[in-house]
Amino acid sequence: MSLPSDAQSVDDLLETGLLDNWYMVARDEDIGTKPVGLKRLSKLIVLWRDASGQVRCLEDFCPHRGARLSLGAVCQGEIACAYHGVQIDGGGTVTATPSTPGSQMIGQKLVTSYPVREANGGIWVYFSNLPLKGEPPPLRFPDEFENGEWSGFLDIRHFDCNYQLVRDNQFDPVHGSFLHAGTHILSAGRKDADLGYEKTDQGFVVWRKNQQGVNLDKTWLIRLPNSGFWAITDLPYPKKEGGGMGRLFRFPTPIDRENCLVWNYRMQKLDGWRRDAWRFLYRNRGSERGAFVLEQDRVALAGMPKHSVHDRENLLQCDLGVARIRRLYRDEAERQIAARQAMASAAE
Ligand code: FES
Ligand SMILES: [Fe+2]
Repeated sequence: MSLPSDAQSVDDLLETGLLDNWYMVARDEDIGTKPVGLKRLSKLIVLWRDASGQVRCLEDFCPHRGARLSLGAVCQGEIACAYHGVQIDGGGTVTATPSTPGSQMIGQKLVTSYPVREANGGIWVYFSNLPLKGEPPPLRFPDEFENGEWSGFLDIRHFDCNYQLVRDNQFDPVHGSFLHAGTHILSAGRKDADLGYEKTDQGFVVWRKNQQGVNLDKTWLIRLPNSGFWAITDLPYPKKEGGGMGRLFRFPTPIDRENCLVWNYRMQKLDGWRRDAWRFLYRNRGSERGAFVLEQDRVALAGMPKHSVHDRENLLQCDLGVARIRRLYRDEAERQIAARQAMASAAE
């Protein structure tokens, strides 16, 4: 049976990133009227804002002779290739070939276009497993983003490791007591952990049975259809930083097999002056301290074997969340590869 040319094995798909999903690819402020070339899910893409300010996203490839469109310029809201000026609209259709006026390329859709949304400070792109017919599924967020009681900050950084190591780390609350011991937030509490696990309507929850509200003691999964496997964790803030529990929302975006974009929304449910005080303290101290903690994660993960699952691993009871999230990702990868195989068979 022949597969579509970009088909991969289940392991390959896991390593480069599950499809049929919206991924945050950049901050909203990173995309302006100049083309920006990025690599996400091992694909080269170019983004820019068109004449109405809407963000557009195409494969970063000129259909004339293959130059990177991101080297070009935005011209009347469309992108013009730097090499010979071929102009392409946000839907991937060629609109002008100035070196050869009236050529046959004009009017043809020759470049892949990706659906884009701008929401909650991020630019989100939909990567489809099979060719997309019509509109993509809606981009969804956890409830906390919708009700206005929560406010927060978006932090984005680059990690030089496969995204699966970050995903595993995000479902591993126990590492906070070791890797981040000595930091302002994650120093308290016991070292030993007896993890509980429970399925929920939207995913699962893992928690320390012997401690709550002291360190990273609880992490849960909210799986939103076509909008990610969100790892959500509560973390206690020190009293001198206003106290209370903060909540982290995240799932990594793959760049390629060895790099990923790690983003976190740090949110808190506060109103009035308490919200203002927390935002002030976060800007002045919290963000820098958070960066220090994330750098500890980055150094640990960058030094690990390239693959998330490798043959010298010995999982412990404290890895319960890691084992469960891996299973869900693998199930989804198997579904996507099967869908490609079914499409290839139907075409034969
Ligand atoms: S390669 Fe883009 S116009 Fe020639
Ligand atoms: Fe960490």
